[in-house]
Amino acid sequence: MEYRRLGNSGLIVSALSLGSMQFGKGMNMGSLDQKATSEMVKFALERGVNFFDTADVYSRGESETLLGNALKGIREEIVLATKVRLPMSDTNFNRSGSTRVNILRGLESSLRRLQTDYLDLYQVHGWDSNTPLEETLTTLDDLVRRGMVRYIGFSNYMAWQAATALGIQRQRGLEPFVTAQMYYSLVGRDLEHEFISFAQYHNLGILVWSALAGGFLSGKYTQPGKASPGTRFAEAGQFVPFDWRRSQPVLRALRKVAERHGVSMARVAYAWTVRQPMVSSVIVAARKLEHLEDNLQAIHLKLSEADLRLLQRASDPGTPYPKWMVLQLDQAEDPRPKVLEPERFAKGGPWEDLRFRKP
Ligand SMILES: NC(=O)c1ccc[n+]([C@@H]2O[C@H](COP(=O)([O-])OP(=O)(O)OC[C@H]3O[C@@H](n4cnc5c(N)ncnc54)[C@H](OP(=O)(O)O)[C@@H]3O)[C@@H](O)[C@H]2O)c1
Repeated sequence: MEYRRLGNSGLIVSALSLGSMQFGKGMNMGSLDQKATSEMVKFALERGVNFFDTADVYSRGESETLLGNALKGIREEIVLATKVRLPMSDTNFNRSGSTRVNILRGLESSLRRLQTDYLDLYQVHGWDSNTPLEETLTTLDDLVRRGMVRYIGFSNYMAWQAATALGIQRQRGLEPFVTAQMYYSLVGRDLEHEFISFAQYHNLGILVWSALAGGFLSGKYTQPGKASPGTRFAEAGQFVPFDWRRSQPVLRALRKVAERHGVSMARVAYAWTVRQPMVSSVIVAARKLEHLEDNLQAIHLKLSEADLRLLQRASDPGTPYPKWMVLQLDQAEDPRPKVLEPERFAKGGPWEDLRFRKP
C-alpha cells in the first residue's frame, strides 16, 4: 500500500481507502451483513488499508453500525471518516441539512453507531442552500475545538462554494476544511475544468468517490438497462450520470491497457485515478472479496506514458471557457518575472513530496 497525507493535515491515510455503501440493506448496493462486512474490513486491513469512509445516510445508519462492529478493538489503528447532511428521516425536516441542530445530533448518533468518541474526519455531504454557511462552519469549528472531530471536510461542493467556505474560515479564524470528497472517473473528469486547480491552490486533498462510475468502468455493462443479476446496476440502477455512447471509446482504451498488462479494466481505472493530482485517497468499493483484492492491487500497477496517452485521448474532457483563456494567458509572453510557475503544481511540486511508502 502507499500512504499519503490527508489533504493539508499531517494525518496519514492509505491511498486506497474502503467505502461502505455496500454495508447494510437499505441501498441495494450489495446488502452485506455483519459477517460479510467484518470479513471485508479485515481483508482490507490485512492489505494495508487504514482509512474507512462511511456516512450516516448509508442504509440510514446501518452501514455505520456494521462498520463500527467490524472495527471494534482497533479504533486507534485506523482513520475513520463519516458524513452528515442528507435526510435521516422522511418526516422530521430537521433531521436533514447542515444546521447546528442536525450536525450536533448527527454526530452524536454517528459516534454511537461507530462505537467511538471521536471521528478523524467529519464531512458535510453536500452544499445546503437552506442553512447559512456561517452556521455550518462555526458548528464544525466547535466540534474540532471540543475534540469530537479531528479534521473536517466537505463533499460535492462546487469550486465557488468551497472557495467561499475557505474564505470565511480563514477570515474568522475557524478550522479549515482539509479534504473534498468528489466524484471523479475516466467518464467523469469534470473536476479538471476548475476544481483540481482550486484544490491545488488551497492544498486540499481530494477523496475520490465512484472511480469506476458505479462499476461501469469494469466493462461488465454493455447496454443501458441491461445488467446481470447480482450487480449494482441491476439492483440499485445507475446513480452516476454518463453518456453510454460517448463512453465507449473510454471502455475500449481501458480494455486495451488492461490487456497490455494482463489485468482487469477495473484495476486500470483505479490505477489511473489514484495518480491524479491532489488525490489523497481513492475510495474503493466492492461487494465481493475477489473484486476488492483486484482493486487494491491497483496501487502496484504502473501505467506507461503510452497507456496514459491512450486513456487521456479517449476520455479527454475538453477545455471549456474560462480555462482555455487562463491557459492561454499563462503561456503568453509576459515581461514580468513569473511568480508562480504552473509546472510547480502540474509536476507535483510540494504535493509529490508528500507521497511515501510504509517502511
Ligand atoms: N460523497 C458522496 O456523495 C459519495 C457518493 C457515492 C459514493 N461515495 C463513497 O465512495 C465509495 C465508492 O463509491 P462506489 O461504490 O460508487 O465506487 P465504484 O468504484 O464506482 O463502484 C463500486 C462497485 O463497482 C463494482 N465493482 C467493484 N470492483 C469491481 C471489479 N473489480 N470488477 C467488477 N465490478 C466491480 C461493485 O459493484 P457490484 O459488484 O455490486 O456490481 C462495487 O460495489 C462508497 O462506498 C462511498 O463510501 C461517496
